[in-house]
Amino acid sequence: MKYKELGKTGKKLSVLGLGCMGMSSAYGTPDDTESIATLNYALDLGINFWDTADIYGNGINEELISKVLVPNRDKIFIATKFGFRVRGAGNAFVGGETYLDASPKWMRQAVEDSLRRLKIDTIDLYYAHRIDPNVPVEETVGAMAELVKEGKVRYLGLSECTPEDLKKAHAVHPITAVQSEYSLLTRDVETEILPLTQELGIMFVPFSPLSRGLITNKLDVSSLANNDFRANLPRYNGEYLDNNQKLSTAFAEFAASKNCSPAQLAIAWVMAQGENIIPIPGTKRRNYLEENVGAINVNLCSKDLELIEAIVNKHPNIGPRYSSRENKFVKK
Ligand SMILES: NC(=O)c1ccc[n+]([C@@H]2O[C@H](COP(=O)([O-])OP(=O)(O)OC[C@H]3O[C@@H](n4cnc5c(N)ncnc54)[C@H](OP(=O)(O)O)[C@@H]3O)[C@@H](O)[C@H]2O)c1
Repeated sequence: MKYKELGKTGKKLSVLGLGCMGMSSAYGTPDDTESIATLNYALDLGINFWDTADIYGNGINEELISKVLVPNRDKIFIATKFGFRVRGAGNAFVGGETYLDASPKWMRQAVEDSLRRLKIDTIDLYYAHRIDPNVPVEETVGAMAELVKEGKVRYLGLSECTPEDLKKAHAVHPITAVQSEYSLLTRDVETEILPLTQELGIMFVPFSPLSRGLITNKLDVSSLANNDFRANLPRYNGEYLDNNQKLSTAFAEFAASKNCSPAQLAIAWVMAQGENIIPIPGTKRRNYLEENVGAINVNLCSKDLELIEAIVNKHPNIGPRYSSRENKFVKK
């Protein structure tokens, strides 16, 4: 494993982290035994930056992670998030009525709940999962800063923030990491957010770097269960799916010419977009984890990057990343 420093904190994080969401929610049926084995294997491989959120499985993901986190506390840098809540039956991904609450009052409750489920005294990195349009970001981050003073969290992050909100938040308390979707198929951050994090010395953490599995060319979309979050996303349906399957096939052919897998190439591409980037590919399986770590050894020259760009440009009908249900939570 290779490591890079998290801003100027002195903390060394593995150059790729582990996204744990899919172990308990969103992508198919959970398999706790394999997930625990995957977490332990991540430790063996030196992956020390793990990502979860209170909303993943309504707390179940944090509880699952605690089983490996607690006996290995000093070896893992744990990130979790607050800000999404669910009313009524169902969960945040399917069926439930999800809403945002990044108020100081809810944050106080949420952090105690996360600490209890994770069974730790301090969260290493605490993100506001989204910017709440009903709460000024300065108020949310001001309250988060209190948690740093109290020793409940070490560093602060924002997920899917606008550049304006990031600047306002950073003026209240240093923001250590920004997490937003970034992959070959989702490029929005390239215009403003990514350059801004570079300017401010903030780590950028791409989520869904494998485009939720689409770019791996291994996903059988026709077999997705109805309760799989992806089944209702535009990119997994109709003309967009047709485009994306062709794109993934062409991408896989290029990966083969580079003697790597499409997943490795996709992760290597994200890593090549800046020094301040640590992607968090998600998996609940040891074999995928081992494969994804191989991205570290994929070196891309400028010609490779051009050829990858040409493949994407040849298949432009990728479709929106979210449906209106999820889009309403992303501040524009
Ligand atoms: N801040 C936010 O709003 C936000 C939103 C989404 C995600 N996240 C975080 O980001 C993490 C990563 O994103 P993600 O999980 O959504 O998407 P992702 O990393 O782009 O893709 C995950 C999917 O790809 C599959 N996969 C992983 N490695 C593979 C390989 N080598 N070959 C074939 N398939 C492979 C996984 O399968 P299996 O599930 O079968 O292992 C899973 O279905 C999440 O776990 C979560 O922690 C944050």
